[in-house]
Formats: sequence, structure tokens, C-alpha cells
Amino acid sequence: MPLPPPRNPSGPYRICCVCLGNICRSPMAEAVLRAKLAEAGLGQRVEVDSAGTGDWHVGGRMDRKAAIALRRNGYDGDSHRARQIRPSWLAERDLILAMDTANLRDLRRLLGLAPGGEADRIRLFGEIGGLDGADVPDPYYGDQADFNRVLAMLETGMSHLVALLKADPEITG
Ligand code: 4NP
Repeated sequence: MPLPPPRNPSGPYRICCVCLGNICRSPMAEAVLRAKLAEAGLGQRVEVDSAGTGDWHVGGRMDRKAAIALRRNGYDGDSHRARQIRPSWLAERDLILAMDTANLRDLRRLLGLAPGGEADRIRLFGEIGGLDGADVPDPYYGDQADFNRVLAMLETGMSHLVALLKADPEITG
């Protein structure tokens, strides 16, 4: 399936990465995607942010092990503060990337969407990122190695996504 078309072809393409708590996977995904976009010269064309489906950590910083994995690999997540997604955000984003299938289901429910139509703007990262639809595993109760594996998976998938964005004339033309 192609990327969802831009809502506003003259403005930036807007992508929101979503997980459960917005302290591990989605803020890592946001940092990796932003860095890869800048590398590809698309930093001005594509805007990235992130959110959680849950509200437990709203206002909090990234998980310590997530921040360590990012820092050791040259990414910056220090300014992150967790947020919970709001239904109104869908209309303000072109693509919402769910980190796992539970996030995808929760997003559809939170945003009141049946499959098809606007729901097609909500996609599984593992599908968009060329990872055969694999879930990004929740590392919250894991050790540093689990976070490092999540980061590697995000790097692979985001490289794939940036190549798709770059090849899409509606988005980067
Ligand atoms: P994330 O990880 O969804 O990747 O940010 C989690 C963060 C917090 C919780 C679960 C997963 N929690 O249960 O509080």
C-alpha cells in the first residue's frame, strides 16, 4: 500500500509515531526518523512527533535505557516529554505509525475509526518499514540489550520509510 497522500501538498508531511507509554519505542522512533530525514535532506519537508495511547507517563522524560541507547548511537532524545494522543491529532497528521498491533487497535478505537478511509492513515510501523509487519516489541520491562534491539529495528524500518518518502513525488517533489 502506498503512503497516505499529503493533506496539504504545499506544507510539510506530518508523521506521528505512537506506542503505549510514549517513553520507550515511539520517542526512539521519533529521534531516529528525524535524524534520518535530516541526513536525507528532508528535514524541512517532513515533520515528526510522537505520542502514547496511554496517559500514565504524560509529562515525563524518556525511559533511561531508551535515552542511553539513543545517546550511544548518536541520537538525541533529551528534550522529549511524554504525551497522550488526542482524537483531534488525526486531522493534523498525514501518517500515524503504530509500533505494534495492540497500538494499532487502540489507536483505531481511541480515534473512533473503522478500517478504510481515514483509518488508512494509521499504519503498522513493521509494514511501512519493510519488516514483514513485525511488532516492535515492548522493551519497558527489558534490559539494555532489549532497548538496543528495538533501536536497531527502528533504524532499519526508518531507513526504509525515508526511502519511500524520498521516492514519493507528492511528498518530496
Ligand atoms: P512504550 O513502553 O510503549 O514503548 O513507551 C511502555 C512504557 C510504559 C508502559 C508500558 C510500555 N507502562 O506499562 O507503563
